[in-house]
Amino acid sequence: MVKFDQLLYGGDYNPEQWLEYPEILEKDLEYMRLAKINTVSVGIFSWAMLEPEEGVFRFEWLEEIVDRLYENGVSVILATPSGARPKWLADKYPEVLRVDESGHRNFFGGRHNHCYTSPVYREKVKIINQELARRLGNHPAVRLWHISNEYGGACYCPLCQEEFRRWLREKYGTIEELNRRWCTAFWSHRYNDFAQIEAPSQRGERELHALKLDWKRFVTARTTDFMRYEISCLREAGSKKPATTNMMYHFGGLNYAEMAKYVDVVSWDTYPTWHKEKEHVTALDCGMQHDIMRSLKKQPFLLMESCPSSTNWQSVSKLKKPGMLQAQSLQAIAHGSDSVLYFQFRQSQGASEKFHGAVVDHYGGSDTRVFREAAKTGASLEVLRELCGTEVHAEAAVLYDWENRWAMEDAQGPRNRGLFYKETLEKSYRALRRLGLNVDVIDMGKELDGYRLVAVPMMYLFKDGFAEKLRSFTAQGGTVLMTYWSGIVDETDRCFLGGTPHGLMDVFGLRSAEIDGLYDWESNTAVPTECGQGILKQIHTCRALCELVEVKGAKSVLTLGEEDCDAETEKGSEKASGSEKEMVMKCGESGHEKKTGKKCGESGDEEKSVDGHEKSDSGAEVLAVYGSDFYEGTPALTRNVYGKGTAYYICADFEQSFYDEVFDYAVKEARISIPPLAEIPQGVEVMQRDSGEASYLMIQNFSETEQEIIVTDPEYDVMFGKDPKRLKKYETVVFRKSAAGKKE
Ligand code: GAL
Ligand code: ZN
Repeated sequence: MVKFDQLLYGGDYNPEQWLEYPEILEKDLEYMRLAKINTVSVGIFSWAMLEPEEGVFRFEWLEEIVDRLYENGVSVILATPSGARPKWLADKYPEVLRVDESGHRNFFGGRHNHCYTSPVYREKVKIINQELARRLGNHPAVRLWHISNEYGGACYCPLCQEEFRRWLREKYGTIEELNRRWCTAFWSHRYNDFAQIEAPSQRGERELHALKLDWKRFVTARTTDFMRYEISCLREAGSKKPATTNMMYHFGGLNYAEMAKYVDVVSWDTYPTWHKEKEHVTALDCGMQHDIMRSLKKQPFLLMESCPSSTNWQSVSKLKKPGMLQAQSLQAIAHGSDSVLYFQFRQSQGASEKFHGAVVDHYGGSDTRVFREAAKTGASLEVLRELCGTEVHAEAAVLYDWENRWAMEDAQGPRNRGLFYKETLEKSYRALRRLGLNVDVIDMGKELDGYRLVAVPMMYLFKDGFAEKLRSFTAQGGTVLMTYWSGIVDETDRCFLGGTPHGLMDVFGLRSAEIDGLYDWESNTAVPTECGQGILKQIHTCRALCELVEVKGAKSVLTLGEEDCDAETEKGSEKASGSEKEMVMKCGESGHEKKTGKKCGESGDEEKSVDGHEKSDSGAEVLAVYGSDFYEGTPALTRNVYGKGTAYYICADFEQSFYDEVFDYAVKEARISIPPLAEIPQGVEVMQRDSGEASYLMIQNFSETEQEIIVTDPEYDVMFGKDPKRLKKYETVVFRKSAAGKKE
């Protein structure tokens, strides 16, 4: 794990734009001191300034600036400049430019507009990276390598296509195997040879989902390979400094879980649109991204970029209201960041980012509102210095997986006008966060050991071994809450045969039989059964997708439509108009004759399964049923005891309040410890970090009004912030408790 001695504070710095103004560069050092800036990232797009002509190097300006920064107590994150190539390179070696999916080579321009395969590009990157590494790679100012900048996009040139075929050959061995896994018997898509395969394209193959999925995997593999190549060049030239690359918000172009394996510390760039929606909605969204980034390595991460003021590429460039900069910055720290870094320190004078917010703007003074806010934030990070390197432990995790996202969003059906994967993920996340729990957001590859509860929203694609992992997690006492549209396809997007959720039907005590897509104006409800009343206090609405599941002993979708099976429920013929009380169904009376006589909380006749786990054979307990449509009365929420654990199944796209009630119950049942607060008012964010020596409770008010915070554990002392009894909007209070337990 990369350890820093202080929380890093600063940001992207582009002195090459100011070389003609030595007085400005001198001023910058003074401003950095005033704002308590201790770290800047340099060299990110400096290639043309470092190598103005092929083989001609001009490093003096950079070396001088790095020395000056060092003398002034500012450390450096040193970037490799591969994010944008010089014009001479593109002109002399056109193969370095990207080719789009219709086969056209781009002109020079932009940033990531280069081929990650091109031997020339790799060679030129090696030369410049090694020059950098030799000259500055062991400079005492340098803390970290910043590899390229926001990798993204793909190249479809002949070299990349060939590389794709090589990757496929390695993955599948034979073309027969590829044909089988890709289901190419459909639409006469059989390939006779790997040499025939082309990348997906709007002008060509765009329906073969397995091809598209593998192409996306390949793009991640290619980009990661390029990143690793860049790092290896630095190592070869003798620099051992740790390396990171900056990732992006909800970016679907790369599987960050893969990339993260090869960096020493994860970092990312955040540009939330504050003041657009309710602040706490934005805070939840941003918090979830922080948690995704932290969970990639389950270690502290770095906030590599954020905007000190307004962001000029957004549809509306909104100023941050007073206090927001500090709130946003401390939110990153609360979620496990060891830094607050901006894009950018000094606002550029021209080109496309001239109106992007910066610590120092075109006016050029420190007597600005934004500068004062930045200086205040810098001072607060000094107070919180001991949080650096502390960890965020979570007992609950929500699963989010890039490959699953790709596969699910690419598939046709069950709802092409919106599956709402991110929103569904957020519902589980929010239900846990409103209880003040630390939450990891992990991909399918991560271990589940150590968690008490995991939420598995819309895990359409199951990678090999995932079902077994979830099974043993449950068997050993874990609580799982999985939703509809899970366990449908395998790694190459082939539908599982023999029933879904694949490999887990006994764990959940049900089989998913059908899924109904709802038009935007349609909805259904979940009506609690007698068993479910302890969990659901009201009737909840669902939209978009309703899964119809088969549970032994419950009203069965198999018999729906058969006249003699028109089951009578307590609700009888009152239909959906009945009052809440009338709508409540009795457990075990949900209609079908195959009654089990099961009581609430009993999982039925249990027997040992082959692997020795307690196995429930009578099907899940039905906690809620649908309130309308032809599947009225069939299960909408179920629970099954499996081994020592519990498996909940959420059958439809329910509203947030449904998730809140179900998770409240499940969290208690799973005995997850909740933070020592009398109450968590809506809009207040709670996070905990731990060092082993001390625990830190960080509370932020993202609600619209002042809030009262009462910590019920007297061993916590306020270490940062004013009066917690009157926590104003955007304010943060941090409590500390030493592990020894005694107040110091
Ligand atoms: C980031 C990028 C920076 C800068 C910034 C502006 O995505 O890495 O170089 O362009 O956006 O918001
Ligand atoms: Zn290429």
